[in-house]
Amino acid sequence: MERIFSFPTADVRVFYFEDVAVIDTVAPPELAVYITDEHVVKLHANCFAGKKVIVLPAGEATKQLKTIEYITAQLLQFQATRQTILVGMGGGVICDITGFAASIYMRGVRFGFIPTTLLAMTDAAMGGKNGINFNEYKNILGCIRQPLFIGINTIFLQTLPHQEWANGFAEIIKYACIANADLLEELAAKNIAFFQNNVTELTSVVEQCIAIKMHITAVDEHEKGDRKLLNFGHTIGHAIENLYLLPHGKAVSIGMMLAVRLSEKELGLDTTSVQRLSDLILQYNLPVFYDFEAERVMEILVMDKKRTGNTIDFILLESIGKAVIKSIGFDKIKMILLKNDYHR
Ligand SMILES: NC(=O)c1ccc[n+]([C@@H]2O[C@H](COP(=O)([O-])OP(=O)(O)OC[C@H]3O[C@@H](n4cnc5c(N)ncnc54)[C@H](O)[C@@H]3O)[C@@H](O)[C@H]2O)c1
Ligand SMILES: [Zn+2]
Repeated sequence: MERIFSFPTADVRVFYFEDVAVIDTVAPPELAVYITDEHVVKLHANCFAGKKVIVLPAGEATKQLKTIEYITAQLLQFQATRQTILVGMGGGVICDITGFAASIYMRGVRFGFIPTTLLAMTDAAMGGKNGINFNEYKNILGCIRQPLFIGINTIFLQTLPHQEWANGFAEIIKYACIANADLLEELAAKNIAFFQNNVTELTSVVEQCIAIKMHITAVDEHEKGDRKLLNFGHTIGHAIENLYLLPHGKAVSIGMMLAVRLSEKELGLDTTSVQRLSDLILQYNLPVFYDFEAERVMEILVMDKKRTGNTIDFILLESIGKAVIKSIGFDKIKMILLKNDYHR
């Protein structure tokens, strides 16, 4: 099965495959150079047999300029040309690096992704944002450029550590909150263990998330409007992620809870919805509360890119499945942060 999503700059082909040989049809072996990490190359060695492969250390620390230099050196050694197709096969780190390296090697070569984490399958591989970090600045160097293809096979997830499943589900819950109330119902009736044992249902959920992200980003590739909705739970989430070095999914879950409490106050979101979201987050082994210091979180928020004067663009829910962008005063955010006593 495949779907083509049209962006202003390119058509992106999303295909669902079982046999890895299918990848050769979109990235012929004589043109393809694979980029992956040390975990994926070991766990899924069969995918790389007979291929040109660049293996990177696993983890966020690899998203740095030195890695781009290393990839460039390897590409030159492989005599990569402008016809080369880079295939990023791995988690979000590998997708971000591959897209960036491909965008600047010889002023841009084609690239595609085979995401192997739940987060990369539902989020990082889509939307065309590619980039790396510099010192403590995350994704500060990058570009927006669409991949030629994104190949999906949820079988890869069988080797995924438990924490990575929860991280992915935090984003899936996010999509349900902002754009698909039915998906939230479906998630509420199931749990991580169910999806680990039911590939068809898992693939269907992944497909729904891909459709949401592709539709939003295709209309607003450069985040002038609706693409901001994808930041639901991420404004406060990023602040506490960096402050307390929490896993992304956990931080986003706590951020989503604070955002719905703000939505209760600002938009009259009903209490039942807040409770439903809280139950769902806990059901997916994610936290609804963290004992952070409100003052320190505020210090980070005032530095946020989305700030204008004394307000910040915040993503709130009118109802489950309907998100809006609203400019919120720092005084109101501080009130919610100080009342961080949910479920205590
Ligand atoms: N470009 C975007 O729009 C976008 C969106 C969201 C996140 N991101 C980026 O994505 C990154 C996070 O992605 P991630 O959570 O996938 O992290 P990751 O790429 O670091 O992968 C997490 C861990 O899982 C391992 N792994 C990957 N596939 C596996 C498999 N099938 N089985 C076992 N282990 C496997 C990796 O080696 C790594 O240790 C961040 O750098 C973030 O900035 C980008
Ligand atoms: Zn996220």
